[in-house]
Amino acid sequence: MMLRSPTGSESGTSTASKRSFKMETEENMGRLANRVALITGAGSGIGREAALLFAREGARVVCVDVDEATGSATADEITRTGGDAVAVRADVSSAGDSAAMVQEAEHAFGGLHVMFNNAGIMHSDDGDAQSTSEEVWDLTMGVNAKGVFLGCKYGIPAIRRSGGGSIINTASFVAHLGAATPQIAYTASKGAVLALTRELAVVHAREGIRINALCPGPLRTELLMRFLDTDEKRERRLVHVPMGRFGLAEEMAKSALFLASDDSSYITGAEFLVDGGITAAYVTPE
Ligand SMILES: NC(=O)c1ccc[n+]([C@@H]2O[C@H](COP(=O)([O-])OP(=O)(O)OC[C@H]3O[C@@H](n4cnc5c(N)ncnc54)[C@H](O)[C@@H]3O)[C@@H](O)[C@H]2O)c1
Repeated sequence: MMLRSPTGSESGTSTASKRSFKMETEENMGRLANRVALITGAGSGIGREAALLFAREGARVVCVDVDEATGSATADEITRTGGDAVAVRADVSSAGDSAAMVQEAEHAFGGLHVMFNNAGIMHSDDGDAQSTSEEVWDLTMGVNAKGVFLGCKYGIPAIRRSGGGSIINTASFVAHLGAATPQIAYTASKGAVLALTRELAVVHAREGIRINALCPGPLRTELLMRFLDTDEKRERRLVHVPMGRFGLAEEMAKSALFLASDDSSYITGAEFLVDGGITAAYVTPE
């Protein structure tokens, strides 16, 4: 990264003061300074928190959501607080929309460095193999698996044109564990995200493009709380979480920031579990 002294010239500046100025400048600039980040599902939950955090860390953010109002609200909040953001309405299961959202990132901000393929759905009629309809299966796979595929399909060439970067695909802890309260389409879609992430990470590893999966545990966001809508249902889940609480969208955003930034420069093809210990547990504390 090019750094300039406050006067625009480094002549006459001592080494110590140069170093402290450099450190201060890098700190002030944030971990995503000079990066363009596209986040899908930016209108709510993890995507919204990630958009706000990435912007605070210096990124120019493309806030994508199928819900135009909430995506725009996130972008407005960023610009109101002095950051750079645009909102794009796109359905990630559509190839045309996915191509257009990436084009908009390049058009608005001149490139693309971070792609957070995070949008996802959990259908209320998703159950076991017998009860789940073909329509629910297709819809869920369309957004959760094909949506991530399309994000990579159009995002990778753009990131390559920008000289490299990081892709984060949101999977889930359910791709690691079976549940007796099944959501078979959702679980299968997240397994697909892990498999495609792993393979693309290997394909693009020597191009300076890192690709990792974020696997959140059960979170206190709209998506899960709509599904676990009674105390009894929530307790049935929490008994399996060693930490005894649901995770927060902000905690996922911080993990995504780590994967987006150079702090994770030697990490690719990883399944980054941020799950309160649920996948490590056999028996939880009382
Ligand atoms: N909440 C959890 O417990 C949990 C656990 C593990 C994984 N996840 C995953 O994390 C991701 C984000 O979940 P969340 O909890 O923040 O959900 P959320 O429902 O709060 O937010 C999801 C956002 O995605 C948008 N979206 C839905 N379909 C879209 C489409 N076709 N195109 C573009 N945008 C679309 C929604 O409008 C919404 O703004 C999802 O992939 C989800 O599967 C969530």
